[in-house]
Amino acid sequence: MVSSQEGLISKFPAQSASPLGKLGIEAALEAAADPSITPKPKIFDEFALTDRVGLVSGGNRGLGLEMALACCEAGARVVYCFDLPEKPSDEWIASRDYLGNNSRMEYFSANVIDQQALWKKTEEIGDIERRMDFCVAAAGILRSDTDCLEYPAQKYREVLDVNVSGVLFTAQAAGRQMSRFGRGGSIILIASMSGSITNRGHAWVSYNSSKAAVLQMARSMASELGEKKIRVNSLSPGYIYTSMTAAFLDSQPHLFDAWSSMNPLGRLGRPDELRGVVTWLASDASTFCTGSDIIVSGGHHSW
Ligand SMILES: NC(=O)c1ccc[n+]([C@@H]2O[C@H](COP(=O)([O-])OP(=O)(O)OC[C@H]3O[C@@H](n4cnc5c(N)ncnc54)[C@H](O)[C@@H]3O)[C@@H](O)[C@H]2O)c1
Repeated sequence: MVSSQEGLISKFPAQSASPLGKLGIEAALEAAADPSITPKPKIFDEFALTDRVGLVSGGNRGLGLEMALACCEAGARVVYCFDLPEKPSDEWIASRDYLGNNSRMEYFSANVIDQQALWKKTEEIGDIERRMDFCVAAAGILRSDTDCLEYPAQKYREVLDVNVSGVLFTAQAAGRQMSRFGRGGSIILIASMSGSITNRGHAWVSYNSSKAAVLQMARSMASELGEKKIRVNSLSPGYIYTSMTAAFLDSQPHLFDAWSSMNPLGRLGRPDELRGVVTWLASDASTFCTGSDIIVSGGHHSW
């Protein structure tokens, strides 16, 4: 008997086949037709990053480091972390050591606005690893509240340089290696809910404009790179407690309650609450997702 689902699958074009073989209903039907097959849950295999190579900018601390660690825990061979300081932070070293022999994290001092340095270093990584599978462009800056009618040119350009040009240069560096090795890949641009809403009570015109640019950058790059099987998505967190937001919260403690009250969950997010979504986006669990903005904001957008 040919079930309706089996009939549909047989008409599916070969290029749409899952890289993990038969999954879900198709796997169940195969097992039903062949008693020698022992059913095995595959959902976690879909999230695994076994032997993958990744690049994370802003990977010395905060969300970038949290995401680098998550990807290593998901099985990546190595994640290269790019960030400004000459030497990695204590938390970076502790995270690297926490992995033991299961995966590797490497640190490289780089400024994301230096396009040539990023391209060159990433090409060297390609020469060593012979693959590049995922990239998280997380380096970003947020400057103090400044009236939009008075915003100084230099301060504005500085934010746009890091948050827009730096994100593009990071994505280019990784994307060029993905293209070189022809295996596709996943590029995750860290944007913000500030790319599609304005943070009430804050004069952050440079940051908000930069993050809106990142949303469109993801769609634009996704459109160009789909034919190379390179997926590009943006990931937009809401308020998460990191050094970036601590710069505001620690000096203005009333903001804890103010920001918490702006989402239905009534709290700020933790960096570790982005582990699942970044692993999903980097992995084969999201192979049909490109050109999308994934918002993880505790529901901030819902009100
Ligand atoms: N924390 C939040 O609430 C929040 C919310 C939405 C989006 N984001 C975004 O997440 C990303 C990570 O932010 P975070 O909260 O972890 O902040 P963070 O300040 O802890 O981390 C940012 C990292 O980027 C690095 N960086 C800055 N400029 C750089 C440059 N020119 N070259 C290389 N590295 C550079 C910093 O050194 C730092 O390690 C940023 O893009 C930020 O805009 C954060």
